[in-house]
Amino acid sequence: MKDNFVTVYEVGPRDGLQNESTVIPTNDKIMLIEALAETGLKKIEATSFVSPKWVPQMADAVAVMQGIKRQENVTYAALTPNMKGLETALSVAVDEVAIFGSASESFSQKNINCSIQESLKRFAPVAKGALENKIKLRGYVSCVVACPYEGEIDAEAVLHVTQALFDMGCYEVSLGDTIGSADTADIKRLLDYIVPIEQPSKLAGHFHDTKGNALENVKAALPYGLRTFDSAIGGLGGCPYAPGAKGNLSTISLVKMLKENGWETDLSMEKLEAAQAILSSWPLGTHK
Ligand code: HMG
Ligand code: MG
Repeated sequence: MKDNFVTVYEVGPRDGLQNESTVIPTNDKIMLIEALAETGLKKIEATSFVSPKWVPQMADAVAVMQGIKRQENVTYAALTPNMKGLETALSVAVDEVAIFGSASESFSQKNINCSIQESLKRFAPVAKGALENKIKLRGYVSCVVACPYEGEIDAEAVLHVTQALFDMGCYEVSLGDTIGSADTADIKRLLDYIVPIEQPSKLAGHFHDTKGNALENVKAALPYGLRTFDSAIGGLGGCPYAPGAKGNLSTISLVKMLKENGWETDLSMEKLEAAQAILSSWPLGTHK
């Protein structure tokens, strides 16, 4: 792959919608995912196989995966926090699963109801099961700069979880500024610590846009060699267990910035606009 090619990893249908308290009809989610797959996006996080008691918006994960007409060259991914999630994901032939850890103890407890150490123990069989079934495995580390409950987070804690996820077989680990509080100095500090140890081509940036810093943070990460960034159509999003984590980085803003700066994405702006237009009639913005 050319060094100026950037992969845009679309997380709108999952990270974008999970925080909305008005449940979006399954058919509307399917329509959005199918429209996103027309744009040239090769990676779409379609849903998550989590407890519906914890995240009611994702309760229709099976119906979503079964309902979408799939494009052959598109990877349809989903979050799987435990074996139950993986088993369900396998039953509907998801292409890629993600295990999601945190660099913050408090966020780990609030988000997945266990400590960091316990989460890594739980992820191990999920990772093994995914790889045995030839399903690609991605990892997330949340709170890579700050935590909504603990404040500042040490880069060393981020590295610890990142390495554990790579050791389990993740092909890529996405570094999450979950609450969107990082500025470029924070991202540089983090990457100065991580990149000498972990290959930047295997790291992704997942920068929430709460303070409007996400695009600048992508620009700060590109010179380190990161070539994958997560974003959500329409800038949808947030995490129900991260108060203040409002929007994800908007896919269209990301693609525009990349194009303006000479990066290639192979995405159709016209089709991204069409996918985004689907959201205009949805009852969005009803966060907890
Ligand atoms: P728990 O309550 O400790 O789990 O939750 P449990 O094993 O005791 O099960 C409780 C109930 O949930 C049981 O049902 C299970 O069957 C069910 P009951 O017997 O009471 O009827 N259950 C499930 N149902 C469906 N699918 C499953 C599943 N697992 C259990 N996979 C658990 C632990 C991990 C399940 C829970 O805490 C959970 O689902 N958490 C997910 C929270 C979440 O999705 N957060 C948002 C994603 S992370 C994020 O947004 C950050 C990210 O974007 C990066 C960034 O921005 O930094 C990735
Ligand atoms: Mg997120």
